Amino acid sequence: MDRKTGIDLGTSRLRVCIKGRGTAADVATAAAFDGEEQLCAYGDAAYRMLGKNPPGKDVVTPLSRGVISNFEDCVELLSAVLTKIGAKGIITRPKTVISVPYGITEVECNAFENVCVAASGGRDLYMLVKQPMAAAIGCGADVLGVRGRLICDIGAGKVQTSVIMYKGIAAAGMERIGGDTADDAIVRYVKDSYNITIGKRTAESIKIAAGSAHRLTERGEVTVCGRNILTGQVVRATLYSSEIREAITPVLDDLTDHIKSVLEKIPPTLSSDVYESGLTLCGGFANLPGLDMFLREKLGMNVNVTKSPELAVIRGTETILGSAGELIEVVSAARDYQ
Ligand SMILES: Nc1ncnc2c1ncn2[C@@H]1O[C@H](COP(=O)(O)OP(=O)(O)OP(=O)(O)O)[C@@H](O)[C@H]1O
Ligand SMILES: [Mg+2]
Repeated sequence: MDRKTGIDLGTSRLRVCIKGRGTAADVATAAAFDGEEQLCAYGDAAYRMLGKNPPGKDVVTPLSRGVISNFEDCVELLSAVLTKIGAKGIITRPKTVISVPYGITEVECNAFENVCVAASGGRDLYMLVKQPMAAAIGCGADVLGVRGRLICDIGAGKVQTSVIMYKGIAAAGMERIGGDTADDAIVRYVKDSYNITIGKRTAESIKIAAGSAHRLTERGEVTVCGRNILTGQVVRATLYSSEIREAITPVLDDLTDHIKSVLEKIPPTLSSDVYESGLTLCGGFANLPGLDMFLREKLGMNVNVTKSPELAVIRGTETILGSAGELIEVVSAARDYQ
């Protein structure tokens, strides 16, 4: 039985693929511990408890802004997921490909590797791949060719933009902005405009239900329920899609500036490739309606969203797992720290 495994440990979602089986796990990066510090829930079940302070339970999200903020909790969570999908403890030395963010420090990168080693029992053969490379493969880009492709992965805790060509990353950048920063912006907007405090989970559901990045993709209104900061009473308010767009505009502007900063780093010889093929968006935040239109107007280039954009990194990781030839070379460059 082949148990080659790929791991994408993201700020909001933990995804694991098994060669030939596709994405075998896609769960919230959240865990709950009881009074004895035993894991009592993980994934979406734990995420549903977040912010509700269930008695006797400690609910955690062990990644913050793209990197591991709690090593032990991360190991417990990943270990539970690997056990559940049967990717742990069966075979000696199966291969594991770990996708690691671009632009993090060596210490932060080691934490990703060490979490995976500890969670899988320490017997695997581990290889690292940079997430922009996995994302490009998952978007269907020809990473072995010599034409530069511009890919932008916008997750919950970070955005990674890169130009990929001939098995390497020709230019790239990472900023710790993404879906989470948009949620924070919605929390602030509702507080400033309506004197109502809402939790981050509520803000995320507002963003997904009625968020949009462009006036042509405006959506319906949503009703929010929260506490009035002046009276302490639980109250309701109606939020229009245009207001949510207004709330997240600073985040969209920061994303634009980040992409422009990477475009400035592109070697002149690759510029025409990149402007011809345009920008491909992936990552969960690429699901935001109108984000492609917004960026097309701001950047003056063609922008498209890849299918199931949140799965691009794990799809690419699975492709690497299944490849024997040249593609495997892309994993070797994962330890360059810029
Ligand atoms: N339809 C949608 N509209 C807007 N945002 C969305 C939508 N669907 C998902 N998101 C957001 O996408 C983000 C999750 O994306 P993704 O799964 O790529 O992140 P991640 O890989 O866990 O994080 P990271 O790569 O930053 O560490 C969340 O902030 C989520 O709210
Ligand atoms: Mg991600």
